[in-house]
Amino acid sequence: MNVILYQHSIQNHMKKTAPYLVYLSPLAFVPLVLLGPLGREQYSLWAGTIGLVLYVLTLLPSMIRRYGLHTGVGKPIIANLLPIRRELGILMFVFAFVHYLGIKILPTVLFGLSLTFPLYQIFGAVALTLTLPMFLTSNTWSTRMLKGAWKKLHRVTYVAGLAIFGHVVLVGISWQAVVIGVVMALELGSLVYAHFKK
Ligand code: HEM
Repeated sequence: MNVILYQHSIQNHMKKTAPYLVYLSPLAFVPLVLLGPLGREQYSLWAGTIGLVLYVLTLLPSMIRRYGLHTGVGKPIIANLLPIRRELGILMFVFAFVHYLGIKILPTVLFGLSLTFPLYQIFGAVALTLTLPMFLTSNTWSTRMLKGAWKKLHRVTYVAGLAIFGHVVLVGISWQAVVIGVVMALELGSLVYAHFKK
């Protein structure tokens, strides 16, 4: 009983806090202005990692449901993440954009670097571009206006995930690459599983 009450209180807390985090999210750009070049680079790399983790969190509720784990081990994860999924998606884009500004745009502009397009950055740019429509439509008004099309549009997320995987794996083998690799394999597996279970 106590566990259930505790669970409900965390859930309510997250639901209430998430919109404020979205309103405060422009603050994530401030360190880009305040930090020196080294600090900015470190911060931007962290922003990329935060973006990746937030992206993974947006996928978990549906994935857990497709595997049929929503009544068992997956129940608390769904209960906490599903109500704030839109906010997580918005925050994901904000951090990914901070990452892009801090690691590519600002150094190029401030130090007059010539523009280069290595493959891993092309993957990153594809991921960022594909998450833009989702960022723009993750509000109540768009959900109502787009109706069924909203779900279809948000399916683009899977392609964005593959692009993030390509981006991070080409940067190097890291824990981030392992996390996104495993999650995307499970995500695609869940889609195949759900298709054949019908
Ligand atoms: C959804 C979009 C993106 C996500 C989630 C993302 C995520 C990441 C992550 C997790 C890392 C590794 C961080 C670390 O090693 O600490 C990284 C590295 C990097 N990303 Fe991104 N990224 C995205 C888009 C972009 C874009 C659009 C660009 C530039 C065109 C870019 C440029 C870089 C660079 C330059 C690095 C560092 C490479 C190195 O260490 O040599 N990223 N990104």
